[in-house]
Amino acid sequence: MTEQIDLQPVKGVRDFYPEDQRVKTWLFSLWRDVARRFGYEEFDACVLEHEELYVRKAGDEITGQLYGFADKSDRRLALRPELTPSLARMVMARGSALPLPARWFAIPQCFRYENVQRGRKREHYQWNMDVIGLASVAAEAELMAAQALFLREAGLGTSPEKADVVFRVSNRQVLQGVLARLGITGDRFAQTCVIIDKRDKIGPEAMASELFKLGIGDDATKRISEVMAVSGHGAEGLAAISAVVGKDNPGLVQLGELLEYAEPFGLGHLLRFDLSVIRGLSYYTGTVWEVFDSSGAMPRAIAGGGRYDALIETLGGKPTPMAGFGMGDVVIIDILREKSLLPPLRRQVDDVVYPMSAKEIPVANKVARFLRKQGRVVVVDYSLRRFKHVVERAETVEGASMLYVLGGNEVASGKATVKPLGQEGAKEYPVPLASLGAG
Ligand code: HAM
Repeated sequence: MTEQIDLQPVKGVRDFYPEDQRVKTWLFSLWRDVARRFGYEEFDACVLEHEELYVRKAGDEITGQLYGFADKSDRRLALRPELTPSLARMVMARGSALPLPARWFAIPQCFRYENVQRGRKREHYQWNMDVIGLASVAAEAELMAAQALFLREAGLGTSPEKADVVFRVSNRQVLQGVLARLGITGDRFAQTCVIIDKRDKIGPEAMASELFKLGIGDDATKRISEVMAVSGHGAEGLAAISAVVGKDNPGLVQLGELLEYAEPFGLGHLLRFDLSVIRGLSYYTGTVWEVFDSSGAMPRAIAGGGRYDALIETLGGKPTPMAGFGMGDVVIIDILREKSLLPPLRRQVDDVVYPMSAKEIPVANKVARFLRKQGRVVVVDYSLRRFKHVVERAETVEGASMLYVLGGNEVASGKATVKPLGQEGAKEYPVPLASLGAG
């Protein structure tokens, strides 16, 4: 006897049975619809990318989680862990032929070799919206407005009275301004961000010792901790930041503008300025933000984004301002399911056509063909099982609203028997086969 194959998918990745796929399709269509309403155009790239695109000097965690390999021609490739570098590559390849600003969105599947836990898998789909070629924080405000519209349409509260989500917002230039005074600039600053983003995972001592290796001593580490402890909602948050870093800090100035642009979108109350938000990707240069479930029940971010004006330059291209976000499918579906906010997504069949014996299969196919031409979703039940079974399956498995019964009597009299399903007391009635394309 041959041994049975492993029935589980690869660790950390998912199978999508039709009922799971329905949820995914629902989510993707809402993502697409929101992006479309903001005038963003969909693009895509291949899941296979050049590995070098993800190798960064700052030691980003994502680089250590790469599914990287050599192909048969010894090219170093990787399954993309995120889409942003592919977007940058595509923008660079178009060069000046691309009219800017451009607004693009995508829903890529991404792969990261993660520790599998709640909200973290080794594969996920990620809704990305990015603005290319706009230096103003108006871009970030617009991106946040799109996220908020999606969250609201998915059923989460975004009003001041009932805010189920919070946007935790910072700007890397706040800390950059502070650290520049201490002589920490350029690559060293990007490396510092990657280290301090890991602080919850590695603890304050390991953080201090990693910073020390970068030549950042106790005084600077203390100053970093002091800055990172500042947070607050709206104007109050800005005042608290100003008290610690000074009102001329360029990051603070941008946060002030962001709040001004976000208010008219009805977003102001959702923004919590929080300088502990750093984000683990080293390419961010300005605004960084993460969207969280405000109850704190889900510790993982629903979405994360930021401004990354230097990414193209680090890949050898011309400086190009860019900002965007990624929202994964795993965390949001988890939250919506927990709050019973997922819509009932049933199998959507309109009609079942039932040939009672093999003789009636040709006429059943004719009727099905006619109904499909009308745009109806039609399943022909070829099982030849008894009427009772067919009705039950049509109602419960297919969720159909009409059953077209075609037996010997129906064909002989030239009339199908049509039975409305799922309607209490609805009577069956005859319909001429000629009017169903089977005369
Ligand atoms: P990120 O914060 O690494 O950003 O990922 C964005 C979102 O993707 C997360 O907030 C989470 O919802 C989801 N996500 C990430 N990793 C996993 C995982 N292992 N399992 C489940 N969900 C996950 C980026 O990737 C940036 N490229 C986003 C961006 C676009 N920035 C600018 N433009």
